[in-house]
Amino acid sequence: MGKLLSGKTAVVTGAGKRSGIGYAVACKLAAEGANVVIADLGRDADPELAVKTGVESEMTDIAKEVARTHGIDTMAVNLDVTRADSIAAMVQAIGKRFETIDILVNNAGASFGVPNAVHTYDETAWMKTIDVNLHGVFRVSRALLPMMILNGGAIVNTASRAGKVPALFNGAYAVAKAGVIMLTKVMAMELAGNGVRVNAVCPGQIATDLEKWRFGLEAQFFDSTIEEREKEMCKTIPLGRIGSPDEVGDLVVFLASDRAAYMTGQAINITGGQLMEL
Ligand code: NAI
Repeated sequence: MGKLLSGKTAVVTGAGKRSGIGYAVACKLAAEGANVVIADLGRDADPELAVKTGVESEMTDIAKEVARTHGIDTMAVNLDVTRADSIAAMVQAIGKRFETIDILVNNAGASFGVPNAVHTYDETAWMKTIDVNLHGVFRVSRALLPMMILNGGAIVNTASRAGKVPALFNGAYAVAKAGVIMLTKVMAMELAGNGVRVNAVCPGQIATDLEKWRFGLEAQFFDSTIEEREKEMCKTIPLGRIGSPDEVGDLVVFLASDRAAYMTGQAINITGGQLMEL
């Protein structure tokens, strides 16, 4: 039986480190036969960013490993979703290698500064957080859509449970992710006639560096340990555990594939039941 995504080409932003959701998504897409562009910063990010970023050496290794393992074509490309020149350079590099793009996964995300109430939130950190998480999705989609509209395709945006439920002291991130959900819906309406479906995934607690960083902050705040914070969190999750990047990857593959041919404009929770909606 043929693979779900044979002959398709996907771009995954923020896929340049093995511990992240983007890497898991890239591997799952490749396992279903898609060629994959691994796009990430390719350098250490802003010193204000507490979490490790995708560096060039790891991106190159990942691209080689994924191509070898799954027998598909890959490329690693540097991308800063906050910079128009970087996005333009990425589009040009991709255009030299692939004629069309069928799948775009807007996964790059980051949280700047330290948690704070809105009225004391550092303004620069607020702006940067919204720039990466929300405007980044707008910029990259806008730049790659001309390569997608030719044959139709699917965009999957990584939003968050935090875009649906107020996240205390993490306002910029929550507002940005809520914006990603609305952007998903607006684009779904606008692109339906072009054969491009647009959906979002809303992960809850997924075991990555970003999640560890947050538990670390909470541990300091509550004078506890990361393990204790994790345990407390698991009590609020009906399935009783933190999710894995691979589990998000499986959902992204589904939404990107023709199995989801009748779905667009949806923001699907993947939270172990932590978030249930009518
Ligand atoms: P991560 O911090 O492990 O990975 C984020 C990736 O984005 C990194 O590879 C980083 O280099 C890249 N990135 C950051 N700024 C960038 C920029 N300006 N341009 C290009 N790439 C950039 O985080 P994780 O957990 O893998 O998150 C992936 C996505 O999932 C993010 O959008 C995040 O907000 C979202 N998410 C994660 C959850 C979790 O529990 N881990 C829960 C809900 C959503």
